[in-house]
Amino acid sequence: MDKMQDAIEILKEYNQEHIIRILEKLDREKQEELIKQIQTIDFHQITELYNNTKKEIEFKESKIEPLKYLDKAKLTDCQRKKFDELGEKTVKAGEYAVVTMAGGQGTRLGHSGPKGTFKLDVYGKGKYLFEILIENLKEANQKYGITIPWYVMTSRENNHETVEFLEKNNYFGYDKDFVTIFTQSELPLVDQEGKLLIGKDFKIKEASDGNGGTYSSLRASGCLANMKERGIKWIFIGSVDNALLKMVDVTLLGMAISKNVQIASKSVVKANPHEKVGVFCKMNGHPKVIEYSELPKRMAEQRDRNGELKYGESHIMCNLYTIEAIEKVSKEPLIYHSAFKKNSYIDEDGKEVIPEEPNSYKFESFIFDAFEFFDDIAILRGKREDDFAPVKNCEGVDSPKTAKELYEKFWNK
Ligand code: UD1
Repeated sequence: MDKMQDAIEILKEYNQEHIIRILEKLDREKQEELIKQIQTIDFHQITELYNNTKKEIEFKESKIEPLKYLDKAKLTDCQRKKFDELGEKTVKAGEYAVVTMAGGQGTRLGHSGPKGTFKLDVYGKGKYLFEILIENLKEANQKYGITIPWYVMTSRENNHETVEFLEKNNYFGYDKDFVTIFTQSELPLVDQEGKLLIGKDFKIKEASDGNGGTYSSLRASGCLANMKERGIKWIFIGSVDNALLKMVDVTLLGMAISKNVQIASKSVVKANPHEKVGVFCKMNGHPKVIEYSELPKRMAEQRDRNGELKYGESHIMCNLYTIEAIEKVSKEPLIYHSAFKKNSYIDEDGKEVIPEEPNSYKFESFIFDAFEFFDDIAILRGKREDDFAPVKNCEGVDSPKTAKELYEKFWNK
């Protein structure tokens, strides 16, 4: 009863009286579940995040400049050899691990399962995105005579299906002892008045808190400790939805080691000013990615003296970190961005409401917001045709059709 009273007090304090009314109507078991959940929620944080949705994103006070990079295609033979040797040495020593972020919802793609279980129609038979990633890792394993530990981040929503899928397909021949699946953290959804949504299970509706949650989830899940035990020194973190993602690029790794930086990333030239990719820049002296949804139009279209986009290095989710860097950022709170989305909910009469228009905010942190905690980053410009075949939308740009074409063209080369 005390717990019920405590929960009611918290809900009152944070203007969530609608939950009290729902709570009072529930049976004992459901009440206990909801109270337990209420105890885990940071209402102060959610209130702050909701209040932030009212604020405009401003970069005015900041000094923004383009970020330096090296072009892989323009490296001298000597540079390339040096980088490759350094990178290879680390990989061969078993000091390299790969993390795949697979917690996203894949709503734009219109695929109902986890994105990695989407089958790309390549070479007649087709290949699942997870299969393509695993093939990339197996190729590296063969080349360097090791088995790279692979960590897959899922969400509460898709974890079960992901595990089942990988089990059923016998991890596409990957050594299971080197695969670790962990689940990312979540945050509640709130409506336009700052009220938390209640789901069909009569619990507060929560959703994945963005891929910036990868760092803290690596720590909380014990994966970071596991990496340390394995003697890992460098960690690659990539997305699940790029059919040409090179997860073991020894040139990128060697470049990072040679430049003595803690973080590195591969970029490609932005296809057009409004392509939906984040772009690299330097803000107040620190590396940064400005996401496409937040990039002011003027900045997106700005060109340099050679007529090239001033902010044209795209972030393709091909990021590399020292273990110390992960250790550091896993303890730092990242900023949250809000996305206004359609989400169904239960009203006070217990009826499900399915909105036709966006009705609620989802809070997400972005993986690249951690770059700001460092003084420098090594950027290697790759080639779109070798490195970037995203599968984002069901048709048009970045769709299965464009990814298939890029994938087949690459492998026919
Ligand atoms: C992302 C990048 C963008 C980049 C583009 C390249 C972010 C925020 N944006 O955009 O800068 O130019 O890819 O293709 O990273 N994910 C999770 N958990 C989540 C949310 C996402 O694991 O809570 C994973 C997805 O499964 C996917 C990746 O993160 O592997 C990309 O996420 P998505 O939200 O689709 O980002 P984009 O809008 O495509």
